[in-house]
Amino acid sequence: MNGMDYSHDVEPSKRLIDMLREDFRLVSVREGCGTGECGACTVILNGDPVCSCLIAAVQVDGAEIITVDGLEQNGELDGLQKAFIEHDALQCGFCTPGVILTAKALLAKNPLPTEEEVKRGIAGNMCRCTGYVPIVRAILSYAATCNRQKAVYP
Ligand code: FES
Ligand code: FES
Repeated sequence: MNGMDYSHDVEPSKRLIDMLREDFRLVSVREGCGTGECGACTVILNGDPVCSCLIAAVQVDGAEIITVDGLEQNGELDGLQKAFIEHDALQCGFCTPGVILTAKALLAKNPLPTEEEVKRGIAGNMCRCTGYVPIVRAILSYAATCNRQKAVYP
């Protein structure tokens, strides 16, 4: 998890979100609906964004899990996180970690998505307070920057 190996005993009925929040104090993993509807509890599990409220902790034995806490490197925010700041795409602490993780997983599979693909990609992450325009802009801008860098330093 987040680049470290852990050995941890957990009750069979415990959900992944509860293990992360209660046992590992990873409170960036938020609980919104608790029923797989809102995406606030998103983590990256073996490369895919998943709702941690729907998964039993025992199911992730041996898996790689990334929470938003695992994105920074040596105390520096990940480039996507920086793009969210630059484009004012940071919304509340409930939806933002899940949106960033979903976008991260999307870009790992599709490094240069279209606007439509980004919108479809983050469709499972709900915010009912503001808009998605700055979020989409931040993701597209970060993807374009990464691809420009790749072109210069292949
Ligand atoms: S809390 Fe898991 S999808 Fe809403
Ligand atoms: S749920 Fe986070 S800003 Fe609306």
